[in-house]
Amino acid sequence: MTYQVIIPAAGQGKRMGAGKNKLLLELDGIPVLVHTLKVFEADKTCTGIILAIHPQDEAEFRALIKKYRLSKVIGLVPGGKERQDSIFNALKTVRDDGIILVHDAARPFILRNHIHRLTETAAQTGAAIIGVPAKDTMKKVGNGVVEATVERSSLWAVQTPQAFRVSLLAAAYEKAERDSFLGTDDASLVERLGHPVTMVEGDYDNIKLTTPEDLFFAEAILKKRQK
Ligand code: CTP
Ligand code: MG
Repeated sequence: MTYQVIIPAAGQGKRMGAGKNKLLLELDGIPVLVHTLKVFEADKTCTGIILAIHPQDEAEFRALIKKYRLSKVIGLVPGGKERQDSIFNALKTVRDDGIILVHDAARPFILRNHIHRLTETAAQTGAAIIGVPAKDTMKKVGNGVVEATVERSSLWAVQTPQAFRVSLLAAAYEKAERDSFLGTDDASLVERLGHPVTMVEGDYDNIKLTTPEDLFFAEAILKKRQK
């Protein structure tokens, strides 16, 4: 199953506190952004990458695309205020109604076989996301006091990529805009349409680089994979 992928990369990396976009930080001598793009560049079923970028990063990102010969980047669009705005800008440039993935540039450890399981599922159901079962006991807390222990067996931690039929995701984004709804992931916009979203089990290595300690986890994951 072929697909195109939208990669939001237009954040500021504020929680990482690196003084620049965290996607430019290097792991094993290669910027995080490039690690992520290389996964899709190497995947034969990926037909195009649309990257949402902040204008301040444009020159540097273009130079990296050239240096690492990332030929599948077919579109660079300006990011917006929120992640959802960045993705909407990119989605507006997608013409054909196939499968579209959304994948955070800040998740460089996504594996190709998981992408394939996800796209195959989305081709059948219209919407599929990748995630992992929650490991910790989860409690609902209000004003510092536990209100309830939430049944863990039904809880999953959600990651990207998330995969959708283009027309379905476009309808979801248009409705969200009409309703001024801001979601924390793409699937939540599709859920509002009443369309079922299928969960595909991924793995715990697919972390998002968010805060400085995540860089230590990232080094460890790289080391494990090099073995
Ligand atoms: N992103 C985006 N446009 C925005 C905000 C975020 O394209 N307006 C992208 C980021 O570049 C990242 C992904 O969405 O690849 C997930 O966002 P997050 O991890 O929150 O990254 P940042 O927003 O850069 O970090 P922070 O929230 O700490 O500033
Ligand atoms: Mg953010």
